[in-house]
Amino acid sequence: MHIASQERTVLPARNILGSLRLPGDKSISHRYGMLAAFAEGTSRFTNFSTGADCASTLACMQALGAAVNHDEDGTVTITGVAGRVTPSADPLDCGNSGSTMRMISGLLSPQPGTFTLIGDASLSRRPMERIRKPLELMGARLTLTEGHAPIAIQGGTLSAIDYSTPVPSAQVKTCILLAGLQTAGATTVRESVRTRDHSELALRAFGAQLNRTLTSVSVQGPQKLHAIDASVPGDISSAAFFLCAAALFPGSSLVLDSLGLNPTRATLLDVLTALGVHISVLNLEERNSELVGTVQVSAPSQGLGSTEVSGALAAQLIDELPVLAAIGPYTRGGIRIRDAKELRVKESDRIALVVRNLRAEGDTLIQGAESAAISFPEFFDLLDHVAER
Ligand code: S3P
Repeated sequence: MHIASQERTVLPARNILGSLRLPGDKSISHRYGMLAAFAEGTSRFTNFSTGADCASTLACMQALGAAVNHDEDGTVTITGVAGRVTPSADPLDCGNSGSTMRMISGLLSPQPGTFTLIGDASLSRRPMERIRKPLELMGARLTLTEGHAPIAIQGGTLSAIDYSTPVPSAQVKTCILLAGLQTAGATTVRESVRTRDHSELALRAFGAQLNRTLTSVSVQGPQKLHAIDASVPGDISSAAFFLCAAALFPGSSLVLDSLGLNPTRATLLDVLTALGVHISVLNLEERNSELVGTVQVSAPSQGLGSTEVSGALAAQLIDELPVLAAIGPYTRGGIRIRDAKELRVKESDRIALVVRNLRAEGDTLIQGAESAAISFPEFFDLLDHVAER
């Protein structure tokens, strides 16, 4: 299928002012969607991500027997398969979504049947050995295509493992936990850097019991999941664009409502604070163990300072590093980023693209602007809403 490349011109802004409510967090939506579709009963979600990636998760789960409805008021209603999927005759299309492919592989490996997972050209180039290895240690049979998708899974009964992830990855951690959930014994994942913990929180919200330490998480299988009703917190990775834009203009004032502030995701706020940005958090509350709050941001009148991001911080900021890099040229001392090579194996080589695009000045012509629909279809409208030109 050929999709026409959409061009969009973005004019320079003079200031960022106003308030926004961001669409639902993509990582949480993937997890709520997948777990609800696997659980027993009917779950209802408001503010579910509108991105194509989460739609890929829902479409795969529908193909496996779950019922998914988009109600007129925007609520997503999902009736789950109560722990047993129906193998689909057609390949499961994960589109552009690495989260869908890696997490669903863990969910399906303990299920009887054969499953084929495919993705678009970009997803078919991304590394999948990182899930094959632990799943095969559990006894699953996965056939990759030169280390990539398409993936064929011959599902069946697995054995629990104790596994240390070589590359910090919440997708890989989730993949193993979803297999462990359906496997007798204690499956443990150990990580050198604590990656986002939405799966742990979501699994608990759906009724599972997990044991956590600072560096590990264990699930004792088998366990059943039960439907929930939830409102998805605003996506802090989407908010990152507006937070960084507001950081650039002395006199800016931006309020972000109902924003997800899970500590494993909110590192950007610390980095912006280190650069001198004024940030306050109001109305902090917990929803299904996820922290949600209102964030108020304004830029320092003396301009931005400098900072360094490396090691664990780089892993925790993996999705926000490109936009952080984009404000680097407007700081006094620069932003030094190390230990970010994972950025090269995302849906695109994010380092190469940031470098290429930062060379632009004045009005910006964006080619392929339709890509925003993958994660954040509302992006350009929300930008127009807060950018003063
Ligand atoms: C995600 C984990 C990260 C992140 C991706 C979403 C998740 O990927 O970059 O956008 O929802 O678990 P890795 O697990 O590859 O680090």
